[in-house]
Amino acid sequence: MAKSVKEQLIKQLALGQFISGQAIGEELGISRAAVSKHIRGLQEIGLDVFCVTGKGYRFSQPLRLLDKTVITHQLKNNSFNLPVEVHSVIDSTNSYLLRRVPHQVKQGQVCVAEYQNSGRGRRGRQWISPFGSHIYMSMYWCLEQGISAAMGLSVVAAIAVSDAIKQLYKVDVELKWPNDIYAKGKKLAGILIELEGQALESSHCVIGIGLNINMPAKAAEDIDQPWTDLQSVVSNEIDRNQLVSTLINCLITRLTQHKESGIITMLDDWFKQDLYLNKPVRLITGEKETLGICRGINNQGALLLEVDGQVKPIYGGEVSLRGLL
Ligand code: ATP
Ligand code: BTN
Repeated sequence: MAKSVKEQLIKQLALGQFISGQAIGEELGISRAAVSKHIRGLQEIGLDVFCVTGKGYRFSQPLRLLDKTVITHQLKNNSFNLPVEVHSVIDSTNSYLLRRVPHQVKQGQVCVAEYQNSGRGRRGRQWISPFGSHIYMSMYWCLEQGISAAMGLSVVAAIAVSDAIKQLYKVDVELKWPNDIYAKGKKLAGILIELEGQALESSHCVIGIGLNINMPAKAAEDIDQPWTDLQSVVSNEIDRNQLVSTLINCLITRLTQHKESGIITMLDDWFKQDLYLNKPVRLITGEKETLGICRGINNQGALLLEVDGQVKPIYGGEVSLRGLL
């Protein structure tokens, strides 16, 4: 389906009223058969469109689209003059920014999208990204100190996501080292940090955040672990534009704090929210599994794992942490 037709169709349906196939066809200059094909295309990307004979098509719920103007107006730090791009359909917001590194990106540049057709988690896993339901957002951040400083970035970003949620909805979340945000014991959001650069040079980082807001039942069928969404833990209605602006504000604040004073100044915030603090855990590294007790993180963002009475730092990479109880 051509992107422009898809976008126009979505904009019309987002108004929340029934629109007949004929009216859509006339507006977009396509046949009714083409309209129904495009509607199927929308259903395939996760939009819940239904049809009533004699009335036409409608979204099952009103849809408020992401809006660049609304997002940028709520940004706190105007001096940054942050470029924010809002896309309807994209492969992955992380891939998009990575393709622009190093010359076509500015510090703090943001890309958000309504839909990702190749949303990624760590180690090439898929991130389920239905249209208009959640937040898929990436920010470019250059670390002059080089790749070593990037190690704790997922910890910094996870704290920023928690700050934003707390600020807007007064809800507490849990943080699972190294890159997950949980609510009531289920995965609410994930962070994907991708880097370019050499050890001693500036490191180009893309910080990707996938935050579930309102999971459609069909998309949920493809997720193979317990998940949750923000609408299940928050009673007010969620305004995704306001949430995106707040996420950007909180990220910039925490990244600046990280640059100026390091993770050491955020340890308290992490420890208060650490999902597994002082609990027995299983650390999975490829084929190897280590049992231990989680003792939080150190000032570089490494996991502190106690095994046989000895606490050792575990640096990120190809490792996963699981609870034992
Ligand atoms: P770990 O990072 O400890 O290995 P993980 O199993 O959550 O934990 P990730 O790579 O962090 O792995 O995340 C990708 C996984 O998240 C996918 O394999 C899938 O199970 C799950 N997932 C995919 N999309 C979503 C989503 N929208 N919401 C919640 N979970 C999702
Ligand atoms: C994880 O839990 O493994 C991380 C998930 C990260 C998903 C986000 S959505 C925005 C950005 N673009 C991507 O393709 N992935 C990240």
